[in-house]
Amino acid sequence: MSLFSLAGKVAVITGSSRGIGKAIAERMAEAGAKVVISSRKREACDAVAAAINSVRGEGSALAIPANISSKDELKHLVDETTRRLGRIDVLVCNAASNPYYGPMAGISDEQFRKILDNNVIANHWLINCTAPQMIERKDGAIVIVSSIGGLRGSPVIGAYCISKAADLQLARNLAIEYGPHNVRINCIAPGLIRTDFARALWEDPEMLAKRTETTPLRRIGEPDEIAGAAVFLASPAASFMTGQSIVIDGGVTI
Ligand SMILES: NC(=O)c1ccc[n+]([C@@H]2O[C@H](COP(=O)([O-])OP(=O)(O)OC[C@H]3O[C@@H](n4cnc5c(N)ncnc54)[C@H](OP(=O)(O)O)[C@@H]3O)[C@@H](O)[C@H]2O)c1
Repeated sequence: MSLFSLAGKVAVITGSSRGIGKAIAERMAEAGAKVVISSRKREACDAVAAAINSVRGEGSALAIPANISSKDELKHLVDETTRRLGRIDVLVCNAASNPYYGPMAGISDEQFRKILDNNVIANHWLINCTAPQMIERKDGAIVIVSSIGGLRGSPVIGAYCISKAADLQLARNLAIEYGPHNVRINCIAPGLIRTDFARALWEDPEMLAKRTETTPLRRIGEPDEIAGAAVFLASPAASFMTGQSIVIDGGVTI
């Protein structure tokens, strides 16, 4: 177990009030980390933190809301975590947005910018706020939740796919910059996972059937099926891995 243990670590996970982020927070807490639950809504964060504390013991989880669109709120997330828990060892940039569905010809500049701001620049801000203390300790693991959308094109979520491809490159670039300080940064690229975010893609039986037909495992994924990879990437088991991405998609991209 020690190879995958996060005992004594502090992990901040954005977008952890539901979906993939919540599953990652629950599994990181199970692996021994103290976890910080964050999203825009305080009550939702409080509820997830309380549920984790009731299973893992008081002090296992803390709620600190932050909107990833706000540099000030992201700075507060880092400062408040450090003030209350002493450090950040693991950062998971999971929250993202996709306010547009349709061809690139129809997207407004405002929508395109919002996608790039929330899915790329916000990760850059949050990492910039967190990395200095990791560099100082010469120890840290950063995980960005990208998407298989970053590996291929789409006729309807092009801007989102562009942002997720940028995340893969952000990880590669920062791996070069932070590697000498033993701070690792990797991505996870999920396929279709049963969450609110992707509801439009799996709730319609026809779309779901079309998707599962071309997926070797013949189903879509569950949030918990992404969490193990995040634990792995944050743990000593991944100590020689940086700048990479793990695809978890039931085989759909092969
Ligand atoms: N589901 C999929 O099929 C799929 C596939 C590939 C990649 N992904 C990626 O996986 C990640 C998580 O998605 P999910 O499917 O788990 O989504 P989800 O179930 O809808 O959860 C999204 C989480 O992010 C929070 N959030 C949304 N906007 C935010 C903002 N502006 N600031 C801070 N928090 C915000 C939400 O809480 P609040 O509403 O309270 O803020 C919630 O906790 C995203 O990066 C997504 O691109 C998902």
